Amino acid sequence: MNFNLEMEKRQEKITGILEYYLPKEEGFQKTVLEAMNYSMRAGGKRLRPLLMLETYRMFGGEGQIIEPFMAAMEMIHTHSLIHDDLPALDNDEYRRGRRTTHMVYGEAMAILAGDALLNYAYEIEPGNPAIGKALQILTKKTGIYGMLGGQCVDVEAAGREISREKLDFIYRLKTSALIEASMMVGAALAGASEAEIKVIEDSARDIGLAFQIRDDILDVTSTTDELGKPVFSDEKNDKTTYVTIEGIEKAKSDVEEISKRAVSALQSLGRKNDFLEELVLMLVNRKK
Ligand code: IPE
Ligand code: IPE
Ligand code: MG
Ligand code: MG
Ligand code: MG
Repeated sequence: MNFNLEMEKRQEKITGILEYYLPKEEGFQKTVLEAMNYSMRAGGKRLRPLLMLETYRMFGGEGQIIEPFMAAMEMIHTHSLIHDDLPALDNDEYRRGRRTTHMVYGEAMAILAGDALLNYAYEIEPGNPAIGKALQILTKKTGIYGMLGGQCVDVEAAGREISREKLDFIYRLKTSALIEASMMVGAALAGASEAEIKVIEDSARDIGLAFQIRDDILDVTSTTDELGKPVFSDEKNDKTTYVTIEGIEKAKSDVEEISKRAVSALQSLGRKNDFLEELVLMLVNRKK
C-alpha cells in the first residue's frame, strides 16, 4: 500500500464532501456564512472525518450515510478552533496557514461563526435508524462532558500549576473527546455492537491523547511556517502541558507507546484496516 497516495485520495474525497455540505453564502447573514466557510475551506488535516470513515469501513460500512456526519464532525472541530484562537482564549493570529477568523472578520463575527458551525453540524438530515445513536455520541462528546468541558478547564488552568491528573482530564476532554466521537460514530453507523464501540472509544482516547502530546511537542519544536499556526502559543499563555511536566524526551516516547497501545486495541477487534493502523502510527511523528 502506498500510504501517501491513499491519504491524498481520501483527503480529496473529504474535501468534496465538506464542500457539498457547506452553507451557501447568501442572504442577510452573508458575512457570518462567509466567516464559517473561511475557516472550513482553509484546509487542515481533516483527521476526524478521516478517522470516522476508516472506522466505518473497518466495521464493513458502505455507502453515503456517513458523509453528513463526516461534515458535521469537521464543522464541530473547526468551531472549536475558531473559538480556541479568540483573544479571550489562546489569542492566536494564525491557523491553517491563514489569519484567524477573528483577525479577518472581527471578534463578534468569529464568535457567531463558531456558534453557527457548531449548530449547523446538527442541522443534518435524518433517515437512518443508527442516526439516533450517532447523534447522541456526537452531542455528548462535544458538550460540557466532552470537548467544551475540556476547553473550560484548560482556560481556567492557564497561569497556574496543575497536576498530571488534571492535565490528563483536560486532554481527554478537549482533544480526545472529538476523536472518540469521530471513531465511535463511524462504528455506530456501520452497526458495531456496544462492546465493540467501547473498544473503539478506548483506542480513540489514546489516539487523542497522543495527538495532543504531539501538538504540545510541535508547539516548542516546530516553526509557524510549517505548522500553519503560531509556535510557543502555550508558553505565551503560561500553560502547563505534557512537555512542561514530563520533559520533551519522555513526551516523545509516550506518544509512541500510547499510539501502539491504541493500535493493539484496534487489532483486538479482529477486523483489519491496515490504512487506519498505519495512520495512527504515522501521527506519532507528524510534522504538522
Ligand atoms: C488542532 O487540531 C487542535 C488540537 C486538538 C491539537 P488539528 O491539528 O487536527 O488541526 P487541523 O484540523 O489539522 O487544522
Ligand atoms: C486544542 O488545544 C483543543 C481544542 C481546540 C479543542 P490547543 O490550544 O493546544 O490547540 P492549538 O495548538 O491551538 O491547535
Ligand atoms: Mg487552547
Ligand atoms: Mg490553541
Ligand atoms: Mg496546541
